[in-house]
Formats: sequence, C-alpha cells, structure tokens
Amino acid sequence: MMLWGGRFLQKNNPLFKKFNSSLDIDFRLVKQDIFASIAWSKALLRSNILTEEEQKKIETALNFLLQSVEHDPDLILKSDLEDVHSWVERELVNIVGVIGKKLHTGRSRNDQVTTDLKLWCKHKVICLFKSIKNLKGAFLNISKKNVNTIMPGYTHLQRAQPITFAFWCLAYIEMLNRDIDRLKDAYRRLDISPLGCGALSGTSWNINRKVLAKDLGFASETKNSLDSVSDRDYVIELASIASIGMIHLSRFSEDLIFFNSLESNFITLSDEVTSGSSIMPQKKNPDALELIRSKSGRVIGFLMNILVVLKGLPLSYNKDMQEDKRGLFDSLDTWNNCLLMSTLILENIDINCSRCLEAAQKSYANATELADYLVQKGLAFRDAHHITGRIVLRAIKENVPLENLNLNILKTYCNNIDNDVYGYLTLESILKKRNSKGGVSFQQVKYAIENVTKDFDKY
Ligand code: ARG
Repeated sequence: MMLWGGRFLQKNNPLFKKFNSSLDIDFRLVKQDIFASIAWSKALLRSNILTEEEQKKIETALNFLLQSVEHDPDLILKSDLEDVHSWVERELVNIVGVIGKKLHTGRSRNDQVTTDLKLWCKHKVICLFKSIKNLKGAFLNISKKNVNTIMPGYTHLQRAQPITFAFWCLAYIEMLNRDIDRLKDAYRRLDISPLGCGALSGTSWNINRKVLAKDLGFASETKNSLDSVSDRDYVIELASIASIGMIHLSRFSEDLIFFNSLESNFITLSDEVTSGSSIMPQKKNPDALELIRSKSGRVIGFLMNILVVLKGLPLSYNKDMQEDKRGLFDSLDTWNNCLLMSTLILENIDINCSRCLEAAQKSYANATELADYLVQKGLAFRDAHHITGRIVLRAIKENVPLENLNLNILKTYCNNIDNDVYGYLTLESILKKRNSKGGVSFQQVKYAIENVTKDFDKY
C-alpha cells in the first residue's frame, strides 16, 4: 500500500521509486516513528477520533511492531516502500486492518518526520554528552598525574615557552566544556514538539498540542506550523556543533601525532591503536589519529552541504529536506566514534617525561623570562626584548642554553645583569611565576584541576 496512490493513474517508474525512497537511511527513525505514532493515537483518542478500543488495538500493534523490529532490524530494509513512515503505517494496517488507516487523521509526514528526527537528535545528544564526559575524564586523569611534567609549549610549531602536560590536557578540557555547552543550548531548541502542525497550516482536528508534546517528552510545542515543518535549524546547529567538536579532536590528533613522532618523542602511542607498514618493518603509524583528523573533513563537509540545501528552499516542506538525514546521522555517529577513539588513545599513551623536559630545556623557552628580568632591572620591555634576542643569538652560536652563558658574557650585552639572573632562568622558576589566573604555574594548574573535578558533572 502506498500512502498517496488515489490521484495517480500510472504506476511510478521503478527507477523513480528507488530514487524517491529514503528507507535505507530513515529506517533508523523507526523507534521514534512508532513512539510518536502511539502518542498521536492517544491524541486522536482524546479528540474522539479514535475509540478507546481502536486506540488500544493500534497501540498494542505498534508495540508489537517495535519488538519485531528490535528483534530483526533488517525487517524494514527488505521493503521497497518510500520511507519509514510509510513502512510503519503499512505494517500497522497489516496487523490491525482498517483501523490502522485511521491513524494518519490530522497528521502529515511533514510534521511527523521532523518530530521523529528531533526525538532522534535528543537521544543522540545525550549519548554525545556521555562520550564527551568520558574523554574529559581521560584528560583529567592524565592531568592529575602530570602536573610536574614540563614540556615545551609551541607557537608556529616553534618551541615558545615551557608548559606542563597537565596544562595541555586542561586546554582540551576547556574545548570539551564548550562543546557540552553548545549541545546543551541546542538541546533547548530541540526540545520543542512540531507534532500537530499538519502539512504546514495546523490541523482542523481538536488536538491539544501541549498535552501531546508532554506525552512525547518535549518541554513544549512549536508556535507556528508553517515554520515548524520548514525548520531544519536544529540540523544545521548540530552539524555545526559536531564540526567544531571534530575540529577540537582533529587538533588533538595533530598534537599527538607530532608528540608521537620520533622528532618529538614526547609520547608513545599504544600498539592497540597503531598499525604497521607493509614494507617498512620498523614503522608504527598513528592511523587512529590520522583517521580522526580526516573524518573531521567529512563532518565539516556535511555542514556546508546542509547549509547549501536549505538556503534556497521556499517555505514550507520540500523533498530536498529528505536529504538532511544521511549526513546528519553520519556526522553525529562520526563525532561520537571519534570521541570514543580519542578516549581509548589517550588512556593508553605513555608519556616520556624526561624527553619532554629535555626539549623544554633546549628550546630557549626561558628567553621571555630574561627579557622580563631586564625589565625588572629598569629597561623598557622593547629594549629588553632586543638585548635578549642578541643574547639568544650568542647562545645559539655557542650551542648552549642561555643559563650556560657566564656573567661576564651576559654583562657585555647589558651591564644591569647580575648573578641573580640564573635563578630566573630555571624552568621551575618560569612556571612558578606564570601565576595569573589560567596561567601555567603549578598552583594555577592544581587550582584548575580542582575546579574541573568539582564541576565535572555540571557540564
Ligand atoms: N521521507 C520524507 C523526508 O524524510 C518524509 C516527508 C515526506 N513528505 C512529503 N510530503 N513528501 O523528508
């Protein structure tokens, strides 16, 4: 049975039938479609469109259908129907007969599909919260163990100033907190029910949309039917949030790929998440991280895709919108999988603390400190910067760290330099001094770890 055959004299061309079908994608909405259909049948009962007996039969049949699908998910894919909504209705009619044909009273696939999709998104967002939290937990654990692991911090991929491994972890925790914040904000807008809006202009039946929304677990109901069936802002929002989230994971991957390279050798990735080369026996490649980096491109690609699809659409529903689900499902699945993979990778890294320290020591990362020291001795920062640059050049020429230049040499660059300079140039002293809020000092990092631990469930 098709949902709309009456007006047609000819059958659909098989090529078009296949082209028009979204069942291979939207079968994933089957639970939501059944759930929303049960809620709709109750609304029809409240409006005396269905009798109590009819509603009961429909509800029982739909629950039975749900169980069958859970048992054999391929059941739907064997069908050649247009979409999941057609499938649920056809199966319902097969089970309960003509009563099942009453279910679509006052309802359109236009309000149905966006209701199903919003329900699906709400569920997926909750899954994403959990995955983000797990990754945050992994960062937090590593940060707690590495408050004293000194390493170089980079700008332009040049060693810039010393930081600690814990500080690096805390930076990613901030990003993840923003991801959670964004999802929470999007959830508020997802949590508004479009059911009862009909095709575009509302329904002539006496449906209490507020009660219906509550039944579906939505916080409230939408305000304008024309907007409700046209709105896919939530798809764009989730695509955008996923893209930002994936950018975070991609940068994390890039950091770890670099840290894991023999050139840095700050960490070693576990065998569990790396693979070998078919020709070079010595190789251990960071495949998992490279895949995360590249999958971010796919997620960002869908954001552009959905923006372009929607930009030229007149109100209200257009079949173009059927193309929203493939990419959305893929993007949110991909983000979730990459979160799981990042957690696994991070939980199993081996940090080479002595190598991190050595790199920080050999980086002239204490040059800013020397300039600040000169400022304390009365020089203007610009002059202090210039003199320090000259001293760095000398140290590079002699192939020694700044603190290995003796006082006589230092004095030739600036007579204000005294013996106390050496105390300023140690990495510990540098880290200790960066005690501004959010700075890298041991004290600030400990404070940040405490706060993240305290607020862990707030996000
Ligand atoms: N399969 C469609 C979609 O995913 C459902 C809505 C179809 N509505 C219609 N009037 N053709 O968007």
